Amino acid sequence: MYDFESKLNRKKTFASKWMVRNTKNEEYPEDIIPLSVADMEFKVMDEIKVALHKAVDEMDPYGYQAVSDAYLQSIVSWMKRHHHVHVDKDWIVLSHGVVEALVRSVKTFTEEGDGVIIFTPVYPPFFKAARSNKTSVVECPMILKDQHYEIDFALFEKQAKEKNNKVLILCSPHNPVGKVFTQEELAHIVAICKANDILIVADEIHHDCIMEGYVHTNILKFLNTYDQIILCTAASKSFNLAGLQTSNIIIPNEKLRTAYIGEDHVSINPLSMAATECAYRCGDRWIREMMHVVGINYKKASDFFASCFPKAWHSELQGTYLMWVDMRAYFENEEEMFSFLYDDACFIVNKGSTFGKNGEGFMRINLALPTKQLEIALHRLFDAYKKRQ
Ligand SMILES: Cc1ncc(COP(=O)(O)O)c(C=O)c1O
Repeated sequence: MYDFESKLNRKKTFASKWMVRNTKNEEYPEDIIPLSVADMEFKVMDEIKVALHKAVDEMDPYGYQAVSDAYLQSIVSWMKRHHHVHVDKDWIVLSHGVVEALVRSVKTFTEEGDGVIIFTPVYPPFFKAARSNKTSVVECPMILKDQHYEIDFALFEKQAKEKNNKVLILCSPHNPVGKVFTQEELAHIVAICKANDILIVADEIHHDCIMEGYVHTNILKFLNTYDQIILCTAASKSFNLAGLQTSNIIIPNEKLRTAYIGEDHVSINPLSMAATECAYRCGDRWIREMMHVVGINYKKASDFFASCFPKAWHSELQGTYLMWVDMRAYFENEEEMFSFLYDDACFIVNKGSTFGKNGEGFMRINLALPTKQLEIALHRLFDAYKKRQ
């Protein structure tokens, strides 16, 4: 088993998640582990460290570097082994990040005044990407039904039929609600997009992070039906490499790909390529074990809320390592909620309203940390709550 228990102190390395302050602009004590930004408090896979050392020692990785065949092959092979889809090496376009790719897609394939559809609540930069070309955000709020989220297909179809709406940015699996879309749901989304010429930009950055018992369906499974698809992937969420800033954008349709690339040549950090290639070559066991620990953490957190905050509820975690908890029963409003969480409980999580209006009163908890540290944070939360009574 890899080490998912050692505690890291990322404050000393200025990790952005650790640099936050409470609502009174005070620093948190050293021992507080934030449960916010979606990177991990797990040590990076040993093999990746070795690959990076080797690259520094042997490769002179400081200049502009072309993409190697081995790098592309590692992606093709990962997509086959883990997602059961065929990817041609030619389809892969490198990018410094998925958000950058979302923005680039909108800028390339829309005109001023067009609309970009997103299913909310959703990862906040989707809003920014959707409006990045003087375009407008077309929100399709998900329906909350029996404590789980569903796409409002009637509304989505209506929006897709509107002439100005050109692009759907899909988050699959969905951050923050933790939903893994079923094959049927995705087929329905694809059918609506196909009928209405809507380009699908599928952000699957979390697609390796799937809970036991769930199956993620890669959007490329629908390629035979519809090829107006841009698939955004990365090893960054799966292997905690977000700071290295490399993602792989897969665009099977040549015309789309050529338009997306345009005149630009993107040069990628050679160290990042070494790390990504290594992760995809030998990360099968790490990802399995990491998600097993996330599963244990999810169960702990779920039991904790059931016994200590029985009026809270959370959507079922099917994918990602992010838990979405509704705390509205305990607080008058979000401001009161977060001054309690941040200042009294030092429980640093993401604020629901940043994911859209329908996220207000929720919190997003990052479960990718050593189980012991999660337990400490949860106990601290409950102790602070008891003091408040
Ligand atoms: C759904 C989603 N897309 C994109 C990103 C960020 O990707 P990148 O750092 O490659 O821009 C995140 C990070 O949390 C995310 O959750």
